Amino acid sequence: MQPSKKEQPFFLCGQCGFQSRKWLGRCPDCGAWDSLTEHNQPLSPRFDRTSATAQPLTAAIAEENTRLLTNIGEMDRVLGGGIVPGSLVLIGGDPGIGKSTLILQLLAALAAQGLPTLYVTGEESVRQIRMRADRLGIHEEAISVSTENCVEAIADLALSLQPALLAVDSIQTVYSEQVGSAPGSVTQVREAAARLLNLAKANHLPVLLVGHVTKDGAIAGPRVLEHMVDTVLYFEGDRGQVFRILRTVKNRFGSTNEIGVFEMQESGLVGVDNPSALFLAERPVNVPGSVVLPSVEGTRPILVEVQALVSRSNLGTSRRTAIGADPQRLALLTAVLEKKLGVTLFDHDIFLNVAGGIRIVEPALDLGVVAALLSSFLEKPIDASTVVCGEVGLAGEVRAVGQMEMRLREAGRLGFKTFLMPESSSRQLQTKAGGETRILPVRTVAELAERLFRP
Ligand code: TYD
Ligand code: MG
Repeated sequence: MQPSKKEQPFFLCGQCGFQSRKWLGRCPDCGAWDSLTEHNQPLSPRFDRTSATAQPLTAAIAEENTRLLTNIGEMDRVLGGGIVPGSLVLIGGDPGIGKSTLILQLLAALAAQGLPTLYVTGEESVRQIRMRADRLGIHEEAISVSTENCVEAIADLALSLQPALLAVDSIQTVYSEQVGSAPGSVTQVREAAARLLNLAKANHLPVLLVGHVTKDGAIAGPRVLEHMVDTVLYFEGDRGQVFRILRTVKNRFGSTNEIGVFEMQESGLVGVDNPSALFLAERPVNVPGSVVLPSVEGTRPILVEVQALVSRSNLGTSRRTAIGADPQRLALLTAVLEKKLGVTLFDHDIFLNVAGGIRIVEPALDLGVVAALLSSFLEKPIDASTVVCGEVGLAGEVRAVGQMEMRLREAGRLGFKTFLMPESSSRQLQTKAGGETRILPVRTVAELAERLFRP
């Protein structure tokens, strides 16, 4: 490294944290205009610099076994089996979704095991937290609360109290003395997180950070942190709905795409053991445009209801809306139906919804979308004891998807009688099936239509 480099100014995007040697009118990373500002200070200076050390690789492996179990089943699941000592976990989510509630319940669960914890909040007063705790029925002595905002002071406090876990709610409200800019700015958020990362790793102290994200992700914060932390969890769901999904987006200590399902009740968040039953609870039976799909999220199968409404458009341009599914995928599947089955959809409005506020990203959803669209278009209901699942290609072919056995088992468990699936998957399953559920192979969308709506 050249010594002169330190003196050189650089430019930092206030939106996403992109760094550049020269000023740019538009950030090439996030596309924001006029968001780059000049900085002189080198970012992320190393705190408490000590001389480097090394250890045998085998010694590091032992840490895995000392995970801190929260005993909140859904939480342990998304973390990959508990909290790893010294790990930095970020919980992101819209304001009001229930992050603070979740944290408080987590701290209470640890307190119940006799573990002291430190809850630092810059969002609310101690009184407000007390009120929430009362509402949740939490009266644990082992939870210490502080409203400190300075990250250096927080670190000192944590070192003196020696908690089993430190929770910081939220990272946007803390600041580092070493940086001049305002709390919540990218520089501050990053510096504060770097300081907490240092604290976590040096003391084997697990640290939980809360971060707010808005719908458009415009706010400076969690996004720039994602590469720094070990685990990123997103708390999602519709505020109007009672279901909340805690989703693993990144995990250095476990699998991603794992989800935890909670229900927001009067007395706080309650884990849902049987999400399939929950998501199907309000399903209308014998109504056109509704079909059930066995989806797999991480290691867990969940049956969801896919709903479509296809109605004649009165406007010049027809509308396409997808909730809980990818709108691009909907456009593609609509085109496949027009081309392969000759259904005229261009003059129809299409609304697609995955019921219950859950978001499905896996391609297995395709066959459910196609079935629901056709059912609504034809005004013919799909048999209520039938499930469908598979990817659809541009030629209208139905392609295999993974974990079919798990999907079949879940469908059988909830009493579904017929399972329409890709032919290649059905060949492998036919021999093992045995259960109550009848497997019907489909090779194309035309075959699907034939099987579902044949008079
Ligand atoms: P909160 O945890 O404050 O959200 P965040 O920290 O993500 O901003 O909780 C948000 C909502 O949850 C709040 O509007 C009220 C509701 N809530 C319940 O329904 N039941 C409860 O027991 C609690 C504590 C909150
Ligand atoms: Mg909060």
